[in-house]
Amino acid sequence: MSDIDSVLKEARVFPPPPEFQKKAHIKSLDEYRALYKRSVEDPEGFWAEQAATLEWTRKWDRALEWNAPFAKWFVNGALNLSANCLDRHVAGPRPDKTAIIWEGEPGEVRRLTYAELLREVCRFANVLKGLGVKKGDRVGIYMPMIPEAAAAMLACTRIGATHNVVFGGFSAEAVRDRMNDSEAKLIVTADGGYRRGAVVPLKANVDAALAACPTVKHVVVVKRTGQDVPMQAGRDVWWHEQMEKASAECAPEPLDSEHPLFILYTSGTTGKPKGVVHSTGGYLLQVALTTKYVFDLKDEDVYWCTADIGWVTGHSYVVYGPLCNGGTTLMYEGAPNHPGPDRFWSIVERHKATIFYTAPTAIRAFLRWGDQWPKKHDLTSLRLLGTVGEPINPEAWMWYRRVIGGDRCPIVDTWWQTETGAIMITPLPGAIPTKPGSGTLPFFGVVPEVVDKDGQPVGPEAGGYLVIQKPWPSMLRTIYGDPERYVEQYWKRFPGIYFTGDGARKDKDGYFWIMGRVDDVINVAGHRLGTMEIESALVSHPKVAEAAVVGRPDELKGSALVCFVTPRSGTTADEALRTELKGHVVKEIGALARPDDIRFTEALPKTRSGKIMRRLLRDIAAGKATVGDTTTLEDYSVLAKLREEEE
Ligand code: WTA
Repeated sequence: MSDIDSVLKEARVFPPPPEFQKKAHIKSLDEYRALYKRSVEDPEGFWAEQAATLEWTRKWDRALEWNAPFAKWFVNGALNLSANCLDRHVAGPRPDKTAIIWEGEPGEVRRLTYAELLREVCRFANVLKGLGVKKGDRVGIYMPMIPEAAAAMLACTRIGATHNVVFGGFSAEAVRDRMNDSEAKLIVTADGGYRRGAVVPLKANVDAALAACPTVKHVVVVKRTGQDVPMQAGRDVWWHEQMEKASAECAPEPLDSEHPLFILYTSGTTGKPKGVVHSTGGYLLQVALTTKYVFDLKDEDVYWCTADIGWVTGHSYVVYGPLCNGGTTLMYEGAPNHPGPDRFWSIVERHKATIFYTAPTAIRAFLRWGDQWPKKHDLTSLRLLGTVGEPINPEAWMWYRRVIGGDRCPIVDTWWQTETGAIMITPLPGAIPTKPGSGTLPFFGVVPEVVDKDGQPVGPEAGGYLVIQKPWPSMLRTIYGDPERYVEQYWKRFPGIYFTGDGARKDKDGYFWIMGRVDDVINVAGHRLGTMEIESALVSHPKVAEAAVVGRPDELKGSALVCFVTPRSGTTADEALRTELKGHVVKEIGALARPDDIRFTEALPKTRSGKIMRRLLRDIAAGKATVGDTTTLEDYSVLAKLREEEE
């Protein structure tokens, strides 16, 4: 197998707006370059220096102990995460500053100051202790996006329990498997949560899961919707009743820097979900530092990351990063299109959000719903936009910049993974000129490279495998209960260096362009094409909102290109459009990428975190799976749901 051919042509460059630059934490490319140079010439010195921004109860002896591929950061140091996120702000200048602004889907708004959140966290930490949870135990969290979810996470960190958050949209089976794999002792849940006007039956799912979870002894239930739920005597307790009785004083437990902070299950592209384990000190440091510099976070910001706490983005950039920096973080419970497609924009306007961080899948949905929805609202409070989760197609990036950012806000396209814990490749908004579709340059202390199959750098403009060459503080420490799988999955392919599983290209300016998962690369007549680049060519057509491209085995070419296309609202999907799109891709990329087949779809199959399920589309393209009548507009999201149940 050769490397990956890159065909994307994108020449637009957007320098940081001068107004933004003047006030930014990092103000110029030179300043970034100087600090980056320092950070990679002496990473341990750099991180040790930065670690002084956290509050430690015992100073570490050494910044890094590296027995590849096992890392320990801030060896023998001790700290408490909740003390860093709460107590020091309460003791310092921010006791009455709003920590969390929360909006429920039905429309209620709650604000919690740092002092209030600290009391809530201490109370719940005492509740956990009262129910027998000790340092080192695992606690499951299966909750809607409500402030209690953040409080529950922070309470775990206060006493040294390792949390295991399961996305509230997952099924009872997923809860069962994750609780069993992590041997959780207790689960925190709610009677339900609101999603698109309906109630998600969280407690019922927990009840079903617990039929086969012998380690779970207690369930704490937050009353959110008020619907009737059965409570099992001796096992289930109400959050509000426990909290009433609990003391609001709870000293933070000093924890070893390497203490396991959380386990988060990620399925990646194949196989059984892996319990990614993160540490305390290194994780918090890189999360806090990236939040400050990537989002240029200031005291007066209203920062909104739309991720659910069930994903790593919710852990790092809804809860821990913003709170560690003393920021105001906005949480929204529900769907982006409830009651209408402008819900997000009404939230931005109502709370005067200044920073907005979301996923490409959401941006492409907004683009499809049309400009009229954001146009109904005053979005001038926004000063910075961000994206994460998938490669963003340049045209979706341009739309985001123009319609949401008013051509005024820089966009930070942040590349990272559940495994990396924190942002790794990203623009710094006041320093690094952006190019649509590129994550630009590495964050401080991060040493990525694009290599060929033998692990040799491929050089500028060539596609290859994205690797990280040096350990970083927020890296995963292992796969829970399966260190062999940790080694096998990430450190075997290129011995001693971390393989991300993604394809990428570095351009002549050293900018990284992520080309998608290497498992999705398509071999067409000797060319190895990343899916993102062909999809971007399709999305650059004014009638296309979203596209996914997969290969279908073909005797002549190796693979034929099958493109699944979601047209923009109001577009007729017909033979004429098919012909037009084929011609468009040829014009954008060249004849080698001419689509063999274009199939129009109402919706693409996505994982619950919004990533396109190309594996499933490959089966559909190869005729292994069908959904009813395929002559009209298809809807594969149904199939995605079926497939998920099987897993
Ligand atoms: C993809 C989410 C391109 C990538 C934080 C990665 C991206 C996987 C980007 C991790 C980006 C994430 N540009 N691709 N800015 N961000 N990805 O574990 O394939 O849910 O390996 O972590 O998402 O997804 P995960």
